[in-house]
Amino acid sequence: MAVPEQEGLWPLDVQQVLEVSIPDEEQRAIFAERLAHIWPRCSEILEALYGAQSAFAFQRTNVIEHVAHAFAARPADLKQRDRTRPMHWYQSGQMMGAMCYVDRYAENLAGLRERIGYFQELGLTYLHLMPLFRCPPEQNDGGYAVSSFRQVRPELGTMDELAEIALALHEAGISLVLDIVLNHTADDHEWALCAKQGDPTYQGFYRLFPDRALPDAYERTLREVFPDQAPGNFTFVPELHQWAWTTFHSFQWDLNYANPAVFTAMLGEMLFLANQGADVIRLDAVPFIWKELGTSCENLPQAHLQVEAWNLLFQVAAPSVVFKSEAIVHPDDVAKYIGRQCQLSYNPLLMVCLWEALATGNTSLLVYSMRKRFALPANAAWINYVRCHDDIGWGFANEDCAEIGLDGPSLRNELNAFFTGRTPGSFARGLPFNYNPRTNDMRISGTLASLAGLEAAREGADATALDLAIRRITLVTGITLVAGGIPLLYLGDELGTLNDYTYALTPTHVEDSRWVHRPAFESARWESRHQASSMPGRIFRAIQHMISLRKALPIFDTGNQTEWVVGDNHHLVTVRRRRQGQQLLVLANFSASPQRFSVDSLMTLPAYMMDLLTETPYDLSQLLTLPAYGQLWLYSE
Ligand code: GLC
Repeated sequence: MAVPEQEGLWPLDVQQVLEVSIPDEEQRAIFAERLAHIWPRCSEILEALYGAQSAFAFQRTNVIEHVAHAFAARPADLKQRDRTRPMHWYQSGQMMGAMCYVDRYAENLAGLRERIGYFQELGLTYLHLMPLFRCPPEQNDGGYAVSSFRQVRPELGTMDELAEIALALHEAGISLVLDIVLNHTADDHEWALCAKQGDPTYQGFYRLFPDRALPDAYERTLREVFPDQAPGNFTFVPELHQWAWTTFHSFQWDLNYANPAVFTAMLGEMLFLANQGADVIRLDAVPFIWKELGTSCENLPQAHLQVEAWNLLFQVAAPSVVFKSEAIVHPDDVAKYIGRQCQLSYNPLLMVCLWEALATGNTSLLVYSMRKRFALPANAAWINYVRCHDDIGWGFANEDCAEIGLDGPSLRNELNAFFTGRTPGSFARGLPFNYNPRTNDMRISGTLASLAGLEAAREGADATALDLAIRRITLVTGITLVAGGIPLLYLGDELGTLNDYTYALTPTHVEDSRWVHRPAFESARWESRHQASSMPGRIFRAIQHMISLRKALPIFDTGNQTEWVVGDNHHLVTVRRRRQGQQLLVLANFSASPQRFSVDSLMTLPAYMMDLLTETPYDLSQLLTLPAYGQLWLYSE
């Protein structure tokens, strides 16, 4: 008989599930011990979400069965990883992230494998492969319309190959990040096809409505995520003569998590990905998963409960795997997913404030926002980035702006004008994304280099402007490298890749300007990375140097610890990290003119510190000078 120590704790149905799913007695004991640890809270959550349903007992067995199967199926090397990885492995100062589309970056999985050497050259330890699952051939929202989480797009390779890549990445010291698209599936996912054929079980997986009455009632309090390309939140499905909830695009059907079977089915898909070797599961569009009439249907308490329950269940089946939240919402709401629900979260606030500071030359909002909102629970870490595959939406808080005398809405308008190059003298070459004439809202698309001025400088073939653009690129990247958390690069940005306007020639992309910043791998650019005088070479060398400094210094092993120092010069950002006797003081000038200043007298600093970037000693009793967009990484031990 099984589970000796837990006997009595589990009802008979659960014991039977465990015995059947995990035949090995020793393994079963490990499982039962972990399950006993998380189950009180987990069942509390399941009851809060689904308790009223008579199916609860069935649901409990069903959930445990999914987790037990995944545990039993977990390959030995991953189980070993579960046992040996330090608990908060993702907080190590060695962490360095990057992201890419397999097809655009390396054609297919075989090609990607050949790039692992380069990932090591760059110092990567974290790689997010954009969704590479089977999806509709034409309209698929960059892979975020998933037809099957269990199959890789045939032109990229197979699921077995993906698992082999995971292994190869692990051997190279790189953790793999994969997406679970929680909010929806493609309308040709097996579940959706069954629903279309009239299967009531699968119709219950989605939110379908016989007429417009409820959709209209919901619409009153919903916003539109893609007002330009996909207005409204519901789509008529001719096969069913019903309306499907489609928050994003018409071909992405929202899942119905009020149905406990959907909670469990998606748990199964996530665990499947973990067992292919994913170390981080990125929870795509997590704010949208629960809906209640009369609300915005974003960030509802039930969404938080679901994620917490999934996270607990992962601690049983795949405890070294962590969740990363993709919540690009108000900063108060971003914070709510971090900790017990997700160990990692994008830091969209840092991202937008870096661009805001570059555009205005004023760092007040950046420093104020970070001081107010950077702190995280002890088990968590930020993903710090300057841009990703999505647009840049000005997600700072209006109240933060008001607290320092700024007007959020007019600042957003100014930034939109600046980053689309409409402001005279703007260095940025961004494109508008989803302009909403009703709200005047707009977001921005563009690569790091094009937004930071490299494209404009090349148009004018102006050497000074080129220098300034490179400094801006390294300045904002530098801040993501010194702030606590995992820095995340979009691969290609380390080589100064520019906007790719040919996206407009692809009919399925032309309406979505985000494709301008998802260019294909440029081999000429990549091959010139070691030529010190080439443009890619200059950018690559600067970024690689900063990465290697970060990885070499134990001061970066202090997890989230980051002090955002207030100074009296509003063009500067001062970031300080301390560890035992070591001290790092990063000074960054976000303005287009040189700044002369004394280091804040409130800080206890040694008389001399060494700038790590140039290996130059600085006498801190003297005034310091930073050139336009310059930075110093002052260090002492
Ligand atoms: C996330 C993805 C974005 C996608 C959306 C819908 O926000 O990052 O690219 O369009 O979800 O799945």
